Amino acid sequence: MPSVLSIIIWTLATFAAFAAAHPGDDHEAEAAERRAFIERNPHLQKRCASTLKARGHASRAVARRRGLAEDMRRARGLPAEGKYIKARDLASVLATDHNQTSSYPSTTFETPQDSFFGDNSSCILQPNFTLPEGPYYVSGELIRKNGIENLTGVNMIMDLQLIDVNNCEPVKGMYVEFWQANQTGVYSGTVGNGNGNANDTSNLNNTWLRAIQPTDDEGVVQVELLFPGHYAPRATHTHILVHQGGYVLPNNTFAGGNVSHVGQVFFDQDLIYEIDTFYPYTTNPNAILLNADDYALAIEATTTDPVVNYVYVGDSAGDGLVTWITVGINTSAIYDVDPAAFWTADGGVENPIQPLAGGG
Ligand SMILES: *[C@@H]1O[C@H](CO)[C@@H](O)[C@H](O)[C@H]1NC(C)=O
Ligand SMILES: *[C@@H]1O[C@H](CO)[C@@H](O)[C@H](O)[C@H]1NC(C)=O
Ligand SMILES: *[C@@H]1O[C@H](CO)[C@@H](O)[C@H](O)[C@H]1NC(C)=O
Ligand SMILES: *[C@@H]1O[C@H](CO)[C@@H](O)[C@H](O)[C@H]1NC(C)=O
Ligand SMILES: *[C@@H]1O[C@H](CO)[C@@H](O)[C@H](O)[C@H]1NC(C)=O
Ligand SMILES: *[C@@H]1O[C@H](CO)[C@@H](O)[C@H](O)[C@H]1NC(C)=O
Ligand SMILES: *[C@@H]1O[C@H](CO)[C@@H](O)[C@H](O)[C@H]1NC(C)=O
Ligand SMILES: *[C@@H]1O[C@H](CO)[C@@H](O)[C@H](O)[C@H]1NC(C)=O
Ligand SMILES: *[C@@H]1O[C@H](CO)[C@@H](O)[C@H](O)[C@H]1NC(C)=O
Ligand SMILES: *[C@@H]1O[C@H](CO)[C@@H](O)[C@H](O)[C@H]1NC(C)=O
Repeated sequence: MPSVLSIIIWTLATFAAFAAAHPGDDHEAEAAERRAFIERNPHLQKRCASTLKARGHASRAVARRRGLAEDMRRARGLPAEGKYIKARDLASVLATDHNQTSSYPSTTFETPQDSFFGDNSSCILQPNFTLPEGPYYVSGELIRKNGIENLTGVNMIMDLQLIDVNNCEPVKGMYVEFWQANQTGVYSGTVGNGNGNANDTSNLNNTWLRAIQPTDDEGVVQVELLFPGHYAPRATHTHILVHQGGYVLPNNTFAGGNVSHVGQVFFDQDLIYEIDTFYPYTTNPNAILLNADDYALAIEATTTDPVVNYVYVGDSAGDGLVTWITVGINTSAIYDVDPAAFWTADGGVENPIQPLAGGG
């Protein structure tokens, strides 16, 4: 007899297939249908959450994230334990003010762990949608934890945990790629309309704000980036791509394998406004597209919460952020991705057959 979990997985896959077959369809109806299904089966999410908790993954995640925040504070000369401002998104991604403005007393972390540095994640698949990799994916990037290079802005550590929706287990040993726009909404490594100055081909040789790391035994990967800048017509986001199999080349790049997940993670709208008050985000010429108006966020939010949780490292967002999110992936899935360009020994080279090269 199939487990209830496999039924929900089958059902979501059926919705995904429906979406794939009708890319132009009314996503709101589809979203409502997905939401209704999840709402009718809340015990499924709880089951996965308690499985993770029982295995100790949940408490280790709490300790790890707290450690990150403390390390970042020490690096800035702030006392290790301080006042953290917690903000996160729960079920209704858009209707809620996610900054819960909870201030925690400096020396006590006695708040129930579930409600601080925790997250109510479950092994629900982050939905697939048309072109999740977008037109700015560059293949062949260096394996590294820190993608900031010499940029300055609001530092952001991202702690991403991957859970396999097939068994609710952490996804171990898979290489995860991250890429995102800089403070003024431009991606490195690609050149084209909609991505800064389309005449500036030197951007092909830039590699900033791209990073690749393998997941550990907790299914966790941590990278250091800046808070991304916005560009039209998208809500502020960071891309993730998960490789299965493959190998590390002598020059510290990654090759081979299959892509098992492609997705995007998002940020609270209020946080985006707040970051926009810091230089050089203040010089961003691009308009903000609201989270509420973003197609990709709408699809992902039908079954999951694709908005990262965060704390300020200091009293101000400008001191940096620790962000975290758990994402359910299907390790059996295989995606075709179209890189805009390749990072090679000769620098950045555009993909001659990328149908979207140069497109917004
Ligand atoms: C993801 O969605 C796209 C577009 O709907 C579809 O073409 C593709 O087959 C899907 N991929 C997977 C692995 O489900
Ligand atoms: C998780 O859900 C429980 C029950 O709904 C809630 O009390 C708790 O605050 C949530 N935890 C987080 C981190 O949101
Ligand atoms: C940042 O690094 C790049 C490449 O190494 C260099 O061309 C650029 O001048 C540097 N910018 C600053 C502000 O140091
Ligand atoms: C973002 O990258 C583009 C392309 O290299 C560059 O022109 C722009 O100055 C960068 N923004 C910042 C704040 O450095
Ligand atoms: C790019 O080059 C075209 C053609 O020379 C020119 O019309 C356009 O203004 C240039 N754009 C920028 C941003 O410099
Ligand atoms: C990138 O750098 C390489 C090596 O320095 C150089 O040969 C190539 O012309 C540069 N590419 C661009 C588009 O500037
Ligand atoms: C990638 O997927 C193909 C098709 O399922 C499979 O034959 C191959 O072994 C996979 N490669 C890796 C490295 O997992
Ligand atoms: C979050 O709440 C704190 C405390 O009220 C406030 O200082 C901060 O500006 C808020 N940040 C955002 C991004 O909403
Ligand atoms: C996971 O991927 C496999 C292979 O594409 C597919 O048969 C299965 O339905 C997928 N599961 C989910 C939950 O999408
Ligand atoms: C890394 O090595 C591969 C295989 O030799 C090569 O194709 C690629 O261009 C190299 N990348 C860099 C950045 O040196």
